[in-house]
Amino acid sequence: MQTSNSLALPVGTTLDRFINKQQEAFPYSTGELSQLLRDIALASKIINREINRAGLIDITGAFGSNNVQGEAQQKLDIIANIRFIRALVNGGQVVGILSEEDDEIIQTGNVNSKYVVAMDPLDGSSNIDVNVSIGTIFSIYRRVSEIGTPATSEDFLQGGRKQVAAGYILYGSSTIMVYSTGKGVNAFTYENSLGEYFLSHTSMEMPQDGKIYSVNEAYFNQFSNPIRQFIENLRNESGCMARYIGSLVADFHRNLLKGGIYLYPPTRKASNGKLRLLYECYPLAYLIEQAGGKASNGQEDILDIVPTSIHQRTIVYLGSEKLVDKLTSDLDAFNNTIVQQLATSL
Ligand code: AHG
Ligand code: MN
Ligand code: MN
Repeated sequence: MQTSNSLALPVGTTLDRFINKQQEAFPYSTGELSQLLRDIALASKIINREINRAGLIDITGAFGSNNVQGEAQQKLDIIANIRFIRALVNGGQVVGILSEEDDEIIQTGNVNSKYVVAMDPLDGSSNIDVNVSIGTIFSIYRRVSEIGTPATSEDFLQGGRKQVAAGYILYGSSTIMVYSTGKGVNAFTYENSLGEYFLSHTSMEMPQDGKIYSVNEAYFNQFSNPIRQFIENLRNESGCMARYIGSLVADFHRNLLKGGIYLYPPTRKASNGKLRLLYECYPLAYLIEQAGGKASNGQEDILDIVPTSIHQRTIVYLGSEKLVDKLTSDLDAFNNTIVQQLATSL
């Protein structure tokens, strides 16, 4: 019997080995960030296990409470939140955690630690009960508050360009962890039977252009004229296809690989957009820039937005460079016309 070539291949690079290798490149590094990334990976394995058996044990459906955003919390939102907090508290590398599910900053008690983490423990939770992809998003900063004291909101309000690492885990047809420490984006696919993440995508590059647009078109009539026009052009002139899962991580991951644009423009209900700046948009903007794509709110790069509060929302356009550039120049042109019309009417 012949062994197939694929069976003869080496097992590959585990996430742990990759993290160690990267750390070796910095002889003075203390290994704390590396340990923090391992703690996040560990928490994600536990959440992955819970998600995989969600239909078999009583953890689907609503928990019966609302989070700080006034959104109904699902049982798995709460479970993922607890799992992550526990992993980060026990891991010891983080002094404070900002979570979508908690109004206030969580103090871990590890006052001598250097880092803080902002996270959306479970993204796309409306998709849990119907077996559709969901995710976890994280963003890491080096604290600015003094070592030996609790975390402060300033630690989290440093701005997107101060992130030292960011990433997400997508619990999809396979589970994948995608992250960057500012030197490109790499992805690790989870091998269930071995309980390990293996390097599967190195130095990811987002296509400069794409044929996919992702937006909740139920709100189409609420969008501004230039946004509607932009979408109509994509449909009618650029031959684009609509793809919208309703889990940001999953929509983002697909577009990162295939090229495209994700839009969450203002709506009547959410005039400043729906998505959260610190633990949804900053980390994905960091990744997309690292992969050669762009992230904008229509006026400035997402990473340049100066944050004012920990749970603030933002309008967001994430995508291939050409598509985001086209959208921002359309928005500029529209705004200039309005200004001119106003000026001439005075
Ligand atoms: P979360 O489950 O963390 O609250 O996030 C839900 C977000 C995001 O994942 C998704 O892209 C978006 O909400 C969908 O919003 P709409 O249902 O308004 O399209
Ligand atoms: Mn979310
Ligand atoms: Mn969430």
